[in-house]
Amino acid sequence: MCGIVGYFGKEQATSILVEGLSKLEYRGYDSAGVAVLNDDGKIVVDKCKGRLANLENKLDENPIHGFIGIGHTRWATHGEPSDLNSHPHSNAKGTISVVHNGIIENYIKLREWLMEKGYTFKSETDTEVIPNLIDFYYNGDLLEAVMKTVEKLEGSYALGVVSSEEPDKLIAVRKDSPLIVGVGKGEYFIASDIPAILNHTREVYLLEDKEFVVMDKNGVTILNSNKEKVEKEIYHVTWNADAAEKGGYAHFMLKEIHEQPKAIKDTMTSRIMKNHSIKLDDITITKDQINNIDKIYIVACGTAYHAGVVGKYAIERLARIPVEVDVASEFRYRDPIMNERTLMIVVSQSGETADTLAVLREAKKQNARVIAVTNVVGSTVSREADDVLYTWAGPEIAVASTKAYVTQLIAMYIIALFFAENKNTLSKEELEAIKDEMLLLPEKAKELLENNDKVKTFAEDNYTNRDMFFLGRGLDYAVAMEGSLKLKEISYIHSEAYPAGELKHGPIALIEKGTAVIALATQENLFEKMVSNIKEVKTRGAKVMAFAMEGHKEIEKTVDSAIYIPRTIELLAPVLSVIPLQLLSYYTSIAKGCDVDKPRNLAKSVTVE
Ligand code: M6R
Repeated sequence: MCGIVGYFGKEQATSILVEGLSKLEYRGYDSAGVAVLNDDGKIVVDKCKGRLANLENKLDENPIHGFIGIGHTRWATHGEPSDLNSHPHSNAKGTISVVHNGIIENYIKLREWLMEKGYTFKSETDTEVIPNLIDFYYNGDLLEAVMKTVEKLEGSYALGVVSSEEPDKLIAVRKDSPLIVGVGKGEYFIASDIPAILNHTREVYLLEDKEFVVMDKNGVTILNSNKEKVEKEIYHVTWNADAAEKGGYAHFMLKEIHEQPKAIKDTMTSRIMKNHSIKLDDITITKDQINNIDKIYIVACGTAYHAGVVGKYAIERLARIPVEVDVASEFRYRDPIMNERTLMIVVSQSGETADTLAVLREAKKQNARVIAVTNVVGSTVSREADDVLYTWAGPEIAVASTKAYVTQLIAMYIIALFFAENKNTLSKEELEAIKDEMLLLPEKAKELLENNDKVKTFAEDNYTNRDMFFLGRGLDYAVAMEGSLKLKEISYIHSEAYPAGELKHGPIALIEKGTAVIALATQENLFEKMVSNIKEVKTRGAKVMAFAMEGHKEIEKTVDSAIYIPRTIELLAPVLSVIPLQLLSYYTSIAKGCDVDKPRNLAKSVTVE
């Protein structure tokens, strides 16, 4: 959470920082600020509560001139969103300023220790101990002081530091929070994520934990904690800056929903081919190792967890290996049993989610092999896992995940097919039939996107509802969970997903006249049973919109509105049935006048526990 940027160069820093922050607002947006070394070598800080636009207005009134600076967009953890708690934070003398993304777990102890030494604090944040510690350790060498400071910090951090004591320098370091370095022509950047700097350079360094970045008149140097120079390869960003722009759509979410056919296709490209075995270049696990696996865990958070639930069905059905799926924040504290015969699959769009990362590390500690499914090249999970399967969704900016989810589903199917092939659990014909159907998904997704009037109407008729229920069986239940999460995230309507057969064991008590129910009935073998469950809620007055495969016209007799998804095999139906659910939450959010791309209390990348 939180986004940080830094600039060192020949242009006015403020506008570059603000532009960078605008690309990082998805990480947090309850306050923003900058600290710039002005023409006199003094630090000028401007920061305020609220969206970046508030800061921009302030900066328009009182511009800051200078060529070196740091900026921050915040998702509050310690202390409410307020001007005082906004970053950058500085020491009392105002000679050192810091932006921070992460959480300092031992900040209370550090704060007390500093207070005993006469330091005072203005904010409620954990971050404020950092500029004060740097001040305490400063003895004519800023880098040395930052190094001594981070030795005292427990928790996670990506830091950008400037000081008027050494006004021609910018220092940065990371541990368990993302940070990249951009290398331009005579100018350098730091940022939490690549889109923040893409208008200026495509050449970046991906930093490892505890690598220190020094920007000064000699250029940019990266050092390890022993002050030894680290030689790093430049990573050249190949995707376009436009990918992180709205491109004519009203919202990033809508754009990303419409990018799904391409994202699905890209994720399959060169991996799934007719009459060829599954090709996974980045995966080195051998046939013997696959045959040795006796248990798979799929662990993730939020939407990625929902993709994992589909993954469990797919792997168990196709490769016949037992799979347990869990949310990372629970898994990591339940004393899980793993060994060298366990395979851990972690799924994370950002590749930086703190809970997922902790699970990955625990799995490695217990000798399990780890495959990461992630969308971000060079992200921490991609670097720490044994194998990586990238989803090629392109940058996902909207907080509500859409295209990342469908590509995670594709990744799950690919892994399931890969294991099935290696374990000979499917005949060649069965394998080819599934692959053929997968290759048709991009076209079918496109078709679905062209017909969404009924979904829009249902959203416009029901956006004032207090509650909404999502029902399904089998894979439809997995998709129902995702539909329900999407709706609550961006429209703030209370919603729940239930396995339809479970309803009569309690939740049906909540159904009354006019309750909106979304019923998924795409699973052929469960269709009749699902229709019976729909009748149970209809009898109690529910207003039902149902999703079924093309051809199941009979469902219209039972429901208020029916949406048909292009025919595919049951196993792959989630890729298609989730699309109208995403649109339902989008149109509901619009009808309610909510901020679709930046829903309240949320952030795109959850890098704290
Ligand atoms: O980056 P990750 O995939 O690890 O993120 C996991 C969740 O935080 C994320 O999916 C969250 O639930 C989304 N806001 C859902 O739309």
